[in-house]
Amino acid sequence: VSGLYQEKHRPQFHFTPEAKWMNDPNGMYYYKGKYHLFYQFYPDSTVWGPMHWGHAESKDMINWEHLPIALYPDSLGLIFSGGAVVDLNNTSGFGTKENPPIVATFTHHNMAGEKAKTNDFQTQSIAYSLDEGTEWTKYEQNPVIPNTEKIKDFRDPKVVWHEKSQKWILVLAAYDKVKLYASPNLIDWNFLSDFGIEGDTRLWECPDLFPIKVEGSDEEKWALIVSIQKDAPNGGTATSYFIGDFDGKEFKSDVKDQKWLDWGADNYAFVTWNNIPENDGRILGIGWMSNWQYALIVPTEKWRSAMTLPRELQLVKTELDYSLLSIPAQETQSLRKDSVSLDPFKVEGKHVLEGSFSPSQFEIVMNIDLKETTAQSFGIELKNGLGENLVITFDRAEEKLYVDRTNSSTNKFSEAFFSKKHSAPLSLKDDILKIQLFVDASSLELFLNDGELNFTDIFFPTEKFDTVSLFANDGNLNISDTNMYSLNGIWNI
Ligand code: FRU
Repeated sequence: VSGLYQEKHRPQFHFTPEAKWMNDPNGMYYYKGKYHLFYQFYPDSTVWGPMHWGHAESKDMINWEHLPIALYPDSLGLIFSGGAVVDLNNTSGFGTKENPPIVATFTHHNMAGEKAKTNDFQTQSIAYSLDEGTEWTKYEQNPVIPNTEKIKDFRDPKVVWHEKSQKWILVLAAYDKVKLYASPNLIDWNFLSDFGIEGDTRLWECPDLFPIKVEGSDEEKWALIVSIQKDAPNGGTATSYFIGDFDGKEFKSDVKDQKWLDWGADNYAFVTWNNIPENDGRILGIGWMSNWQYALIVPTEKWRSAMTLPRELQLVKTELDYSLLSIPAQETQSLRKDSVSLDPFKVEGKHVLEGSFSPSQFEIVMNIDLKETTAQSFGIELKNGLGENLVITFDRAEEKLYVDRTNSSTNKFSEAFFSKKHSAPLSLKDDILKIQLFVDASSLELFLNDGELNFTDIFFPTEKFDTVSLFANDGNLNISDTNMYSLNGIWNI
């Protein structure tokens, strides 16, 4: 067994379903040494259909084992997105303190109701597991939050424990805002409050609310993550966040508008793991590496879509406000196989990176010495012999990052996918620009300046990219440190 998938475009070190359709990550928790990952799954087709919760587990969020489907549609509806918590004190009474239940919160989506346009066809339900997450029992009196206000989009419940009020807090998306509820036992829920942006009528999905400490201090803030279904910075759907405070009743954002968790086109429904041990203390999460603009028609045959690499979120305080940084979880370092370090060097024009790494599956960590760099723009290009390419450009005059995938394939399977260069604002005034880039067959994840900016995009060249090069326009590019890694594949097939 080679351990590597041979299929075209198949990621080698990202989570993908063995076959068929996947979207959002769901119900993630850590328990007894294992990270659990559930996901929106349609086992009968490579396009979206009646939703199940697929299931996988891992000791390190890198090497995954596929497990049987956890939740199947039932008479109340399809199983849409949501979260899960380890109910350590058995507040729900579904287990015991010795064997605490895992309680999943999810949306039941009733198709008959949707057809009849009743507007109350999405309700919130729970299920529990007493064997770490393999077998699930749905609560007999589901739903636990009915849709009394008849809100057409009313979904994706995620729960967190609130220490101060000794209550579970549930956040769900209600069209263009979120609603918060509280419960002592995960069964009986009381409405607390709404949170939204005035005048904003975009559809919100997959919210996540959690406390987070400012890096290097004891100051605690609350983060509210929401995925936005329209008009993201680079088109279509993306994940955003607010930083603020939560008093047990209301979430108050420090700022009016949200920030983007990832500036790329392909990180949606990013949510965090529950029950990470205190002595670890990290906030860890994962996102769906696609975009509803074209998710259904990307050119993969056996399966559709992948998750991002697992990421750690860190909160930093800047002069103006707070920012959430995303960095690859440190476990990603276990993927590194061979490494090549390069002495400082200069690039004028173009420089092909050579070494024992595959241009379609690698990590590169590089420091650019901006003080000694005269080029106005510079970057990294991936390409193949067919003339297809993908170009990452850092533009100093415009203070922008560009990711151009418009020429990444001659197979123009979607207009939106190829229509324009992607970009993000990026200050290039510091002395050093730190670049960390992961490429895995059909995706790139770029982390700049230790997570200050991160950018995730997918691409589907008709043949694998076989050349990685650096380029400098109108001047030179001065590179002080370079480490290139070839990365292991994670699957044993
Ligand atoms: C987000 C989403 C969720 C919903 C799920 C259905 O991608 O639309 O709001 O629960 O997908 O699969």
